[in-house]
Amino acid sequence: MIIDFTGKTVLVTGGSGGIGSAICQAFADSNATVAIHYNSNKKRAEHTLISLREGSHSIHGADLSNPDEVNKLVQSVSKTHGQIDVVVNNAAVVEQYDFDSLSYDDWQDVWARTIDTNLLGPAYLMYSAAKVMKEKGGGNFVNISSRGAFRGEPKAIAYGASKAGLNTLGQSMAQALAKDNIFVYTIAPGFVATDRVADMIDDSIRTQSPLNRVAEPEEIARTALWLASEGNEFLTGCIVDVNGASYLRS
Ligand SMILES: NC(=O)c1ccc[n+]([C@@H]2O[C@H](COP(=O)([O-])OP(=O)(O)OC[C@H]3O[C@@H](n4cnc5c(N)ncnc54)[C@H](OP(=O)(O)O)[C@@H]3O)[C@@H](O)[C@H]2O)c1
Repeated sequence: MIIDFTGKTVLVTGGSGGIGSAICQAFADSNATVAIHYNSNKKRAEHTLISLREGSHSIHGADLSNPDEVNKLVQSVSKTHGQIDVVVNNAAVVEQYDFDSLSYDDWQDVWARTIDTNLLGPAYLMYSAAKVMKEKGGGNFVNISSRGAFRGEPKAIAYGASKAGLNTLGQSMAQALAKDNIFVYTIAPGFVATDRVADMIDDSIRTQSPLNRVAEPEEIARTALWLASEGNEFLTGCIVDVNGASYLRS
């Protein structure tokens, strides 16, 4: 099967991060033009940009917890490339804490930061990008969720809830946007070997999977690439587990 994104523009949020940069790589390797988004780490985004195969790729900064910046991001990508064919909603924050030690103020702050970035950011981005896609005849969204939405996240409760919300957002948007030839796919990874979780990965984590390891970012990227490729329209609304059978649901 040949996957070819020649002539397509793909916006990847969090292209400065571990999984995001692998996703940028996968799409660029399949001839897409990639719009790499970052929040605070412009250097990492530039590093991602330099590592991509030739093309008119671009980088764009935006704090996705700010609705105005979300809208400006879509305008910036649309102005630069004239189209947005695929959006990968990958950027997210995760704050780990001990529930018993949080004050009520801290609890509210964590929830606000997490929901603003991980749920409202993608919701607003999907709204604005869907308008651009509709004008051009359609498009695809791939949302990066988490196994934690199903399994629970006792050390990152707001994060788990934000990802459960992202799952439902994707399902409802799949139903709302299919008439416009816009399709929505969700990926729910288990642990993935990125810098963010490097300190947490030990044998107790690896043995959650019968493969005795965690995922590599490229495995999430490959799934995102395939889902966004042609011929998968009937999968719209799906949530694909990429967790090495570490948490099975039926
Ligand atoms: N790694 C795992 O084990 C794992 C497991 C399940 C799901 N996931 C999901 O996979 C995705 C990527 O994870 P990762 O491990 O690659 O994380 P990462 O390396 O920490 O990357 C996170 C990305 O999100 C961006 N970001 C953070 N806050 C933002 C904000 N307010 N506005 C815009 N962008 C913001 C960061 O941008 P800057 O660095 O530029 O600030 C960065 O590019 C996330 O959705 C995560 O929930 C990861």
